[in-house]
Amino acid sequence: MPISEVMKFNPYDPQFQKDPYPVFERLRAREPLHKSIFQTWIVTSYAYADAILKDPRFLVDNLPARLEDKAENYHEASFLQLAQILESWLFFLNPPDHSRLRRAISSRFIQESIEGLRTYVESIVTDLLGCIAAGRPIDLMANLADPLVASTTTRLLGLPDHEADQISSWSINTIRIFDQPAPLEMLLEQSETMAQFRAYLEQLMAVIRHQPQPGLFSELLQQQPHSGLSDAEIISTLIVLAATAQESSKGLISNGLLALLHHPSSMSQLRENQALIPAAVNELIRYDSPIQYVTRRAAEDILFADQWIRQGEYAVVYLGAANRDPAAFPEPDRLDFQRTNRNLGFGGGVHYCVGSFLAKLEMEVVLKALLERFSGLELASDSLERSPTRLSRRLASLPVLVRP
Ligand code: HEM
Repeated sequence: MPISEVMKFNPYDPQFQKDPYPVFERLRAREPLHKSIFQTWIVTSYAYADAILKDPRFLVDNLPARLEDKAENYHEASFLQLAQILESWLFFLNPPDHSRLRRAISSRFIQESIEGLRTYVESIVTDLLGCIAAGRPIDLMANLADPLVASTTTRLLGLPDHEADQISSWSINTIRIFDQPAPLEMLLEQSETMAQFRAYLEQLMAVIRHQPQPGLFSELLQQQPHSGLSDAEIISTLIVLAATAQESSKGLISNGLLALLHHPSSMSQLRENQALIPAAVNELIRYDSPIQYVTRRAAEDILFADQWIRQGEYAVVYLGAANRDPAAFPEPDRLDFQRTNRNLGFGGGVHYCVGSFLAKLEMEVVLKALLERFSGLELASDSLERSPTRLSRRLASLPVLVRP
């Protein structure tokens, strides 16, 4: 393939947004570590992605520092406040600060703790499916995924359930902070959203400190003498968890269900053997990864795959591409619930997704309930609207017809 073809790689291309996999395939075959026209390194092979995620010489993105520069250049104080919130997000912290904050929350996210939410998730799904009438098109995002992840997130974090819609709407705007570079107007909008979210949590903190509630918010406040987390760190952590939990879980539900709707024989396989559901969820994460990329920055000059990645240069690690690498997953474009599957859908290394058990639990419950409640599901439209968020790959709506 001529190099000019490879150089066409453009993540802003609508066609790429719609279906990135042919582009990944070409790039991986020709140049799995590719210096893009934007001067960032684009990583598309499994081996390189895995190695970079585990290599401590690759630091996380320094977005908060870039926002501080912007605050100075544009005399825009709200960017500084935005940077201050992001500075405590796990995504933008390196060890040892990262380890300290992650330790403070990790016990709440281990499999045993998350299993405690299963009955709650099942009851929400049962209620939501109970409101769906067979025979006419329904939107599985608006009628199932959106309210499910909104309620589960408030339950996990210990936020008032009647505020779930408001929290969800702040979260969706918040997660778009990852879509950089962003126009100034968008940054201003995000600063405003984040300020509102923070003010809301600050008020709630005063109440919860005196009247503890079940959930992570109270737990973090009670553990403060041991964890040493500041109030600001707790609030930033709740914001990042609310935002990530919602956006990525919706991605798994939408992409996973869409893949099954496109592969009726795989859907039948699950209907006949529900024991396959956990493996199927893992395969669905691989097949159409909800978080398509993570960004890393070289802490020093690094000789990697025979190329010099210079200090300060960025590597965009495409998890979606790594997960379709035939060297790691034979016949990668095929859904196969029985394959050996160490996919990178939840990342790798010290930043491995903290919420992986919760995301998998939600998807398992959704799949089981849909298969039990309806004898058939089919897509009700070919033109599917996608969420505008670049980081996460997901549908905004999923219209289906269900048979009782
Ligand atoms: C299918 C759903 C999900 C996917 C695909 C996903 C994917 C990821 C990925 C790829 C990373 C690594 C980021 C990096 O290396 O820079 C990550 C980290 C993270 N995820 Fe998830 N995630 C999902 C669900 C969740 C949920 C439900 C939560 C919260 C309840 C969550 C919270 C986080 C947090 C806080 C981090 C940062 C961890 C760290 O930097 O130490 N995720 N996730």
